[in-house]
Amino acid sequence: MLFNKVTSFALASLLAGYATAADLPAIEVVGNKFFYSNNGSQFYMKGIAYQADTANVTSGSSINDPLADFASCSRDIPYLQQLSTNVIRVYAVNTTMDHSQCMDALVDAGIYVIADLSEPDASINRDSPEWTVELFDRYKSVVDMFANYTNVLGFFAGNEVTNNSTNTPASAFVKAAVRDTKAYIKEKNYRSIPVGYSSNDDADTRVAIADYFACGDSDERADFYGINMYEWCGNQNFQSSGYADRTKDFQNLTVPIFFSEYGCNLVQPRQFTEVQALYGANMTDVWSGGIVYMYFEETNNYGLVSIVNDKVSTLADFNNYSKQIHSISPSSANTASYTPTSTSMACPATGRYWKAATALPPTPNSGLCSCMDAANSCVVADDVDSKDYQELFNYICGEISCDGISSNGTTGKYGAYSFCSDKEKLNFVLNLYYQNNGAVSSACAFSGSASVKSATTLSVCSSALEAVGSVGTNIYTSDISMASGSSTSSSSSAKNSSKSSSRSNSSGSSSSSSSSSATSTKSSKNAAGSSFKVNMAQVMLSSFATFAVAAGLGFALA
Ligand SMILES: *[C@@H]1O[C@H](CO)[C@@H](O)[C@H](O)[C@H]1NC(C)=O
Ligand SMILES: *[C@@H]1O[C@H](CO)[C@@H](O)[C@H](O)[C@H]1NC(C)=O
Ligand SMILES: *[C@@H]1O[C@H](CO)[C@@H](O)[C@H](O)[C@H]1NC(C)=O
Ligand SMILES: *[C@@H]1O[C@H](CO)[C@@H](O)[C@H](O)[C@H]1NC(C)=O
Ligand SMILES: *[C@@H]1O[C@H](CO)[C@@H](O)[C@H](O)[C@H]1NC(C)=O
Ligand SMILES: *[C@@H]1O[C@H](CO)[C@@H](O)[C@H](O)[C@H]1NC(C)=O
Ligand SMILES: *[C@@H]1O[C@H](CO)[C@@H](O)[C@H](O)[C@H]1NC(C)=O
Ligand SMILES: *[C@@H]1O[C@H](CO)[C@@H](O)[C@H](O)[C@H]1NC(C)=O
Ligand SMILES: *[C@@H]1O[C@H](CO)[C@@H](O)[C@H](O)[C@H]1NC(C)=O
Ligand SMILES: *[C@@H]1O[C@H](CO)[C@@H](O)[C@H](O)[C@H]1NC(C)=O
Ligand SMILES: *[C@@H]1O[C@H](CO)[C@@H](O)[C@H](O)[C@H]1NC(C)=O
Ligand SMILES: *[C@@H]1O[C@H](CO)[C@@H](O)[C@H](O)[C@H]1NC(C)=O
Repeated sequence: MLFNKVTSFALASLLAGYATAADLPAIEVVGNKFFYSNNGSQFYMKGIAYQADTANVTSGSSINDPLADFASCSRDIPYLQQLSTNVIRVYAVNTTMDHSQCMDALVDAGIYVIADLSEPDASINRDSPEWTVELFDRYKSVVDMFANYTNVLGFFAGNEVTNNSTNTPASAFVKAAVRDTKAYIKEKNYRSIPVGYSSNDDADTRVAIADYFACGDSDERADFYGINMYEWCGNQNFQSSGYADRTKDFQNLTVPIFFSEYGCNLVQPRQFTEVQALYGANMTDVWSGGIVYMYFEETNNYGLVSIVNDKVSTLADFNNYSKQIHSISPSSANTASYTPTSTSMACPATGRYWKAATALPPTPNSGLCSCMDAANSCVVADDVDSKDYQELFNYICGEISCDGISSNGTTGKYGAYSFCSDKEKLNFVLNLYYQNNGAVSSACAFSGSASVKSATTLSVCSSALEAVGSVGTNIYTSDISMASGSSTSSSSSAKNSSKSSSRSNSSGSSSSSSSSSATSTKSSKNAAGSSFKVNMAQVMLSSFATFAVAAGLGFALA
């Protein structure tokens, strides 16, 4: 019996084509520091950003996944090792691809991975932020794919989403992503892998945003905080570079902070003299090291190596960084003797520069969206292009309250359906409009853009829909398992919103009236535009859905 088991296991790993790597000790967070879980020694990141530009990738892939191509990662790992690298940062992974060979090779090399959960086509838009079922599914898929590897140091729930004082409400959505990803890791009984955020370095917002992610309940807050730091350019020192001031700025942060990118290249080749400061006594109480931007030489000139015809050549930056990183000896705390001065902190005040509410958007709940959509009697016609949804939203939300589908990271008010798909949200407001206008077929015409269907309320849905209320303004937090749902009550399409809200005793009372808030949500989606962001790193090319700008009403009520 036992023999058979052992044999088939050995065979299985042979067939898998690579040796099973020994585990690396997990990295844990205590106070504002990282520690090795095996012996309690402090862990400083000696990191390198590792992802080639995505811009030239053909064949429909938008992600050039650095952990899916064993030929490349095995080519590069010896160079990473020459630089004493213990962490790589990857910005976008493709969860349909196999990462086991690269991950195992990294384990063998003693290298941890910190991975962004978003990807260019699935990330939170700073100008029209949402935290949706679709995005949460993407985040979950990355967690599922990487949770079993002991060398996953952590995940970033966002990179430079809020990047100046005009878009601080977006941080509420990113913090909801942190909260929900942490809860998901717990729910799936994975190792408690830390989840954090990576920020830019904006003078107006840098202190507030760090405090915002680090504050509040342990269930909500980021487990660590990265800042992309390009202040030390050329021949600077601890004072003149700004590092002294930054160290003061973050001295009270209660979670680990590190440079999630660094290495200004205004003066080339880079000298990397900042390495001595970063790992020296002036900074190590506050900082946990950093991640040099970046491995690959590209048009932006941030490379440590250039790769031509699959051959790696080290550049002057590689040699200069190598000298510096090999001459550090940071002090090391140990968990056994380390007591954090403080383990929680207050959230930042809101004001001129910081506007994000501490009340976070609801956890995306696909079951609730399905329940709502099935219960609609008036829905968008199948042949309406999603690009034309905006025109319908604009009209309807000028007539009735769209509070159930909108969200506002400044006020902290979020509709119960704000995380649903655009189509589900459109159906919800079409139906609400229809109900508010007598549920007559002419109120579901929109020149053929919408049509009446029969509404279905699954038994698993009825209490949730009642709790949310007809206008959709009461947040519903329980799970809804659609798998076990059996359809029971099927109601005719002639139902009226006033009727359904009188049935929903708990929710009817707190639903806002249709007209009162109509104007405030009118343009809630207009800001999306066509937004392409290329950050300093040039790898985080983010594209977002383009909404057609309403040029006028293309439909009329019959
Ligand atoms: C603790 O363990 C890590 C990982 O194995 C190792 O690199 C480090 O040197 C150890 N620390 C001490 C003080 O032995
Ligand atoms: C990517 O495309 C641009 C424009 O065609 C070109 O200049 C650049 O050299 C390409 N980069 C790589 C790495 O092929
Ligand atoms: C992910 O990889 C698959 C092939 O495995 C490819 O079809 C798909 O386009 C890739 N996705 C992205 C976003 O690059
Ligand atoms: C992770 O490990 C667990 C326990 O060994 C196993 O059941 C699960 O299938 C693994 N998941 C993945 C995605 O490899
Ligand atoms: C913030 O992002 C916008 C693009 O959405 C960009 O135009 C702007 O330069 C960025 N600001 C900073 C300070 O990085
Ligand atoms: C701030 O970010 C917005 C995008 O959200 C951008 O339009 C604006 O130009 C940025 N302002 C500055 C000063 O960078
Ligand atoms: C950090 O805490 C110390 C001691 O309470 C205080 O004096 C200092 O002003 C704080 N610094 C910041 C940036 O909040
Ligand atoms: C630490 O700070 C002091 C005072 O500013 C400075 O003289 C010294 O050079 C700094 N050390 C490093 C390694 O930057
Ligand atoms: C960095 O590299 C250049 C070119 O190789 C060299 O002249 C310079 O001395 C190096 N600087 C340091 C600090 O090692
Ligand atoms: C959020 O609410 C504030 C305060 O009422 C308002 O100024 C802002 O325009 C709203 N934002 C959105 C996206 O609706
Ligand atoms: C729908 O509700 C309105 C009041 O909001 C009422 O005047 C109208 O008669 C109702 N229509 C139906 C079909 O029940
Ligand atoms: C609605 O009213 C019924 C009957 O009074 C009651 O049993 C039920 O608990 C109420 N539902 C809620 C959500 O309060």
